[in-house]
Order: sequence, then structure tokens, then C-alpha cells
Amino acid sequence: MAGFVQCGCFGSFLCLLGGVTALYYMLKWSWRIWQGFKVYVVSSVYPADVREYGQWAVVTGSTAGIGRAYAIELARRGLDIVLISRSQEKLRRVADEIESRYRRQTRVIQADFTKGHSIYPVIAEQLKSLKIGILVNNVGMNYAGTLVNFLDVSDPEKRITEVINCNILSVTQMSRMILPQMVGRGEGLIINISSEAGSQPQPMLTLYSATKVFVSYFSQCLHAEYQPRGVTVQCVTPFMVSTNMTHNIKVNPLVKSAESFARDALNTVGYSSFTSGCITHALQHIALAIFFPAWLRLSPFCVRCVQRFAQEIKQQIEEKMSQCQKKQEDRYM
Ligand SMILES: NC(=O)c1ccc[n+]([C@@H]2O[C@H](COP(=O)([O-])OP(=O)(O)OC[C@H]3O[C@@H](n4cnc5c(N)ncnc54)[C@H](OP(=O)(O)O)[C@@H]3O)[C@@H](O)[C@H]2O)c1
Repeated sequence: MAGFVQCGCFGSFLCLLGGVTALYYMLKWSWRIWQGFKVYVVSSVYPADVREYGQWAVVTGSTAGIGRAYAIELARRGLDIVLISRSQEKLRRVADEIESRYRRQTRVIQADFTKGHSIYPVIAEQLKSLKIGILVNNVGMNYAGTLVNFLDVSDPEKRITEVINCNILSVTQMSRMILPQMVGRGEGLIINISSEAGSQPQPMLTLYSATKVFVSYFSQCLHAEYQPRGVTVQCVTPFMVSTNMTHNIKVNPLVKSAESFARDALNTVGYSSFTSGCITHALQHIALAIFFPAWLRLSPFCVRCVQRFAQEIKQQIEEKMSQCQKKQEDRYM
């Protein structure tokens, strides 16, 4: 009898524990689904008016891919645009497109973000008279055009400095430069383009993945510090977007075009300070976190598989890279 009573108590305890756990997960997932619905669905119906942040938007790395798409989308939404990239010719083309299609003002600044500290006083001088409402820290580069081990690039010493300057220093220095005027006015928006590769450690993309973690942490901390003073810092962590960086991979339900990504991601402004940018990338992020967690990615077995895969696609990627290069050269002949 005593055993039965004991067993009954234990059973009730297990039932209670099960009930509480089920309730916890039900509430957690309901909350996440509601948040996702708000950020990716409601936002597309009621997007924030980005003109409220100020007249000008500055976009780094803005002559191609995601940066160009952000610049054009921001112009479409009524902002004047400062474009910053390396090639004067490409800058002029995007500026002309914005001026003729959207009747917005533009400024172009030629700068190479791999060059380190020397470029920032020059950029600051050219921005000093502008009321900048939005800064998009988009510029970024991969360590190699494909998946590689850390030492398997030519001249790693130079490449490491270039990647760190381009992916980390640019975000910190551009924010340092523009944040004071935003804080002074009590309004402003900084959008930092990180990557899904920064959400979890990614061997074979080691340096790129590590620089993107920096961007994510930097953005979240800066947002916590400056949101009370009127400045929003949004971190965007895209999955695959069809651009030069991804060798213009075909657009499909999982891979976004740069234009549609920038449109969706800009809709999330005011709804989330940390976002995948669009619903399909958010779903891929959740699926990957569940089915391909960090411990599995970092396991020797998985690293060997990725190395083998990288070897298999090496030739294909090299061909794609030379095709992309040729296409770009033809476009700017
Ligand atoms: N594509 C993706 O799937 C993906 C996914 C996650 C995150 N991201 C991130 O999104 C951002 C944009 O990527 P993307 O795919 O659009 O790249 P992309 O197609 O290679 O375009 C890069 C842009 O940056 C400029 N740029 C490159 N190096 C530069 C430098 N050293 N100094 C100044 N400008 C430079 C390029 O113009 P010039 O050649 O004229 O200088 C171009 O306008 C990056 O931060 C990347 O890490 C991309």
C-alpha cells in the first residue's frame, strides 16, 4: 500500500513536470511564432517610414549585391544616398540610376576598406555637412571565394589584414564617425550586415565566420547602449543571397535575390534589432540550429565531410568565379 502511495506521488510529480515542460515549450514557441509573424508579415504591410531617421543614408559596398540593393531601396523610400565603394565608374553608374529613377540626390566616395585606418579621415571630411539618418555597414568580403582551411590561401598574412579591415574595422570606424551626430539629434539607424555564418561557428569559413560574430556582438551591444538615446542598431544575418560573393547562384525558394532581400530586410526596421532579414532565411536559421548544431559542425567527422565537399566543388567554383569576373569586366567595358 505504502509503495502504491509512493508510486502515485511520483506519478503525479512526473505528470506535473511533463505538464509544466509542455506549457513552457508551448508558450515559448507561440511567442516565437508571434514575433516571427510580426517581424516578417506585419512589417511588410506596415513598414516603418525610414525618412523619419534623417535625410541621408550612407551605404558601404554599394555598387553591387546587397549594398547596391539597399541603396536603391532606400532611395525608392525617399532618402538621398551616399555610396561608398572602390570603383569610381561603378559608383557613378549606381548614382546615375538612383538620380534618374528616384530623383534623389547622391554623393559618391571612392574608398577601399581593406586599406585600414588611413581612409576614415577622408570619408569623414566628405560626410561632414550631411544630416545622416541611416548608416548601412554592408561592405564585407570572404577569406577565399570558396570553403578553405585557414592556411590554404595565397599570402594569408595580407589576406587576414584585408578581411579584418573590411569586415570589422569598417563597421566600427564608420559607426564611430556617424553615431555622434545621430546621438546629438536623438535619432538614427545603423544597419550592420552580419551573416548566418556568424550565428554559429563555421569551419572552412573560419575567418569570415569569426568576423561576422564580431559584427553581431558589436551591433547588439551598441544597440543596448544607444537605443535609450534614440539610435537603433539593427543586425541583419542573411543566409544565401545571389550576388558576386556567392558567384551569382541561382535564385530559388531558399536563395534570395539581392533586391528582394533588401526590400524584406528594410521592412523589418522598427520591428526587430536582430533579424535574418526575411522569412525564408529565418526558417533556415531555425532548421539549421536544430538539425546542424555547433557541436556537430565542429566535429572531426563533419569537418572532414566539408573538406571533401570543398574539394569536389573546387573546380566548379573556380569556373564560376572566372565567369563572374568576365561578366563584370564586360559590363564595365
Ligand atoms: N551574398 C550572401 O549570400 C551573403 C550572406 C550573408 C552575408 N553577406 C554579407 O553581405 C554583405 C554584402 O555582400 P554581397 O554578397 O552583396 O557582396 P558582393 O556582391 O561581393 O558586393 C560587395 C560590394 O562591396 C564593394 N566592395 C568590396 N570590397 C570592397 C572594399 N575593399 N572597399 C570598398 N568596397 C568594397 C563592392 O564594390 P567595388 O568592387 O566597386 O568596390 C560591392 O559593391 C557582406 O558584408 C557579406 O558578408 C552576404
